[in-house]
Amino acid sequence: MVKVDLLGAQPFFDAAGPDFAATAEAHRILAGRSGAGSDFTGWLDLPGRVAKSELKSIVSAAQRIRRQAQVLLVVGIGGSYLGARAAIELLQTPSHNQITNDPQVYFMGNTLNPDAVNELIALLGDKDFCVNVISKSGGTLEPALGFRVARALLERKYGRNGAKKRIYVTTDEHRGILHDIAEAEGYDRFIVPGDVGGRFSVLSAVGLLPMAVAGIDIEAVVDCAIHDLMDLDLRSPENPAWQYAAARQHLYRNGKTIEILACYDPSFRFMAEWWKQLYGESEGKNGIGIFPASVEYNADLHSMGQYVQDGPRTLMETVVSFEQAMTPFKVPFEMGDPDGLNYLAGRDFADIERIARDAVKAAHIAGGVPNIGISVPRRDEAGFASLVTFFEMACAISAYMSGVNPFDQPGVEAYKQNMFRMLKQED
Ligand code: PA5
Repeated sequence: MVKVDLLGAQPFFDAAGPDFAATAEAHRILAGRSGAGSDFTGWLDLPGRVAKSELKSIVSAAQRIRRQAQVLLVVGIGGSYLGARAAIELLQTPSHNQITNDPQVYFMGNTLNPDAVNELIALLGDKDFCVNVISKSGGTLEPALGFRVARALLERKYGRNGAKKRIYVTTDEHRGILHDIAEAEGYDRFIVPGDVGGRFSVLSAVGLLPMAVAGIDIEAVVDCAIHDLMDLDLRSPENPAWQYAAARQHLYRNGKTIEILACYDPSFRFMAEWWKQLYGESEGKNGIGIFPASVEYNADLHSMGQYVQDGPRTLMETVVSFEQAMTPFKVPFEMGDPDGLNYLAGRDFADIERIARDAVKAAHIAGGVPNIGISVPRRDEAGFASLVTFFEMACAISAYMSGVNPFDQPGVEAYKQNMFRMLKQED
């Protein structure tokens, strides 16, 4: 389970402090499924349901793909792609595709940029590949175009019948264009449950199938998530999700309108992208909401660090850390000490990173930036499950505390309507 450290935020709380009564009420309506958007609270027991229904078939499809293909192309956007990419980068590292013996996993359908499409085709080369197209609605333009391209590539290489054995569709159980195509063609199908929105769907087939292909132990992820969700149902200020939700809402009301999610581990980059979608789409509506941003330390200490330390005092900082590094690496000793660094020789990089982290935290707090610490023991399947369930639970509670529906995204429709109108006008 996640631990939350609010010591670095407390100096910025006013006399009233975080409103745990409002947190309790938000949790009550969430768990009672009586708040706005309650039709989309299926993620609360998603891991348990997946374990009972689809998990075995996801694992066996992943094993088949691992036998069939050197590359899996995952076609999707938003909640239909960020979770899987976040998991693979976190657990198998951002260099997965360069260093792995498992199939490489590439993502498409999240851009309309022709250079990116051509680059992906070049990366694919003559490798054997499969396609997992993921879209809950089945009608989102970016992945729909991506799938058209991917399917044509498959059919050119394997013929129409050969392609059929290499297409895996994850979509709504009953409706949508993608659902209809999959049914007509007899593609293997997996379900995005109707009561789970895209950004809360990583622990369904949406995230689990690509993760399993990349060699992640998804049975461990699901099992840990089941236990984490039970723990996160605790109705008490001891609940880490309450602590995080209450603290960030309190800071927001005191003028901290931007939250920066920071991590010192480069493999966390896409977890931060996943978090930005989760919090941005869930909370940014009705003219309110904390703006979610992210930084990758130490690199960004030498770019965004200046702004964090010294810019407008509208920031709060949430720092995710892993208590144990996965591998050791010690500073080498060098004869003659030409660079003057022998005072660090023999010390592990993890130890130096921890000291850098403490130094940054103290500097940023002194500079007027509240600091919320979030930690899990290790960057492994259990750590991933704990972070996902914690962030989802805290997000829904926090959004209800601010009075918005966490589960809709009416603002996303505006660009879509314009785009379709303009594309059709140009005909
Ligand atoms: O959280 C959401 O619901 C959205 O971000 C969707 O995931 C995104 O728009 C993709 O939608 P779909 O899966 O229907 O293609």
